[in-house]
Amino acid sequence: PGADGISIDPLRIVAKEMKFLTGNIRKLLGSGHPSLDRVAKYYTQAEGKHVRPLIVLLMSRATAQCPKAPQRQQQTLHASAAIDTALSPLGILADFNPSSGAETDASSTDPDILPSQRRLAEITELIHTASLLHDDVIDHSVSRRGAPSANLEFGNKMAVLAGDFLLGRASVALARLRHAEVVELLATVIANLVEGEFMQLKNTARDETNPRWSEDTLTYYLQKTYLKTASLISKSCRAAALLGGSDAQTVDAAYVYGKNLGLAFQLVDDMLDYTRSEKELGKPAGADLELGLATAPLLFAWKTMPELGALVGRKFEREGDVARARDLVMQSDGIEQTRALAEDYAEQAIAAIRPFPDSEAKDGLIEMAVKTLKRNK
Ligand code: FPP
Ligand code: MG
Ligand code: MG
Repeated sequence: PGADGISIDPLRIVAKEMKFLTGNIRKLLGSGHPSLDRVAKYYTQAEGKHVRPLIVLLMSRATAQCPKAPQRQQQTLHASAAIDTALSPLGILADFNPSSGAETDASSTDPDILPSQRRLAEITELIHTASLLHDDVIDHSVSRRGAPSANLEFGNKMAVLAGDFLLGRASVALARLRHAEVVELLATVIANLVEGEFMQLKNTARDETNPRWSEDTLTYYLQKTYLKTASLISKSCRAAALLGGSDAQTVDAAYVYGKNLGLAFQLVDDMLDYTRSEKELGKPAGADLELGLATAPLLFAWKTMPELGALVGRKFEREGDVARARDLVMQSDGIEQTRALAEDYAEQAIAAIRPFPDSEAKDGLIEMAVKTLKRNK
């Protein structure tokens, strides 16, 4: 419930924009190649949580009343058809219509939210979905959003290529916003996602002789978590404020909100991997230990249970390691400590936007932080 006791539903605040999200994304993903079209749109069929677009739209509305920066050089938005004509000799790949996709029923659009900000919301979901297509290949995952994963359904090759296709279409849509700083931010996000995933492959600043090994591993884990999850949320919040013409302070506040929310979000994700079932999550549970990954619950447990060090060191590879590690984590206060750290970040997210003028959208952003802690999938 909000301050006045009335419960706040963040989704309702931007419902009109969210209604067009999936349809617009599917338009951005149109390909004349029937099987590419199918694989590319596959993860748009099941209902995702759409957390990232929801945050972008709420941030767009919440910053609409914030102070503005001195006028930016206005760049004209003109649709370039170059990419489509270049592909048209093939006959089959030319159905990406650059001017279509961002429109909604004009009478029902919120004057606080610009078309470019709506498009940004779609782009964040595209980048996120691309990373999931690749992630499920890397993690050998068999389910996503309550259905077989794309790699299982279509094979690794098509899943990887579909992810690349999503990134390509996201890049075109991004370029057409004609805002160089926003392009730079979102391009950096894509690089950060890969950097985070690489850090995760290595998993630990592994060095048994280092007396601060477990502390350093926690620092490493948080850095990785920023790159793989919080970068997208924070930089897209920043981009939303920039597209709205907000001043530097507002742009920074939007970024700090997104960064802390993103960190809280992934900490909760890593906690749910221990506490929930595959049925509840719609994706495999207990997957991290199986993948050799030591996440926050284990890293906190390790502080009081030094024997976890050896298991971390060999990535839980020996028979019985996974079960042993899980038992130790469940006996420890690792889950509670993870929750407490997530709460910390959620509070910092809320604090960052405190200077924003009161609005329904600001309450929605606050509620997103509260909900992140309460979610169970
Ligand atoms: C989900 O993590 C995965 C990510 C948040 C990012 C994955 C990034 C890549 C695969 C790099 C390539 C990026 C792009 C943009 C193509 P998880 O495995 O912990 O979560 P899960 O339980 O949902 O699978
Ligand atoms: Mg995964
Ligand atoms: Mg992964």
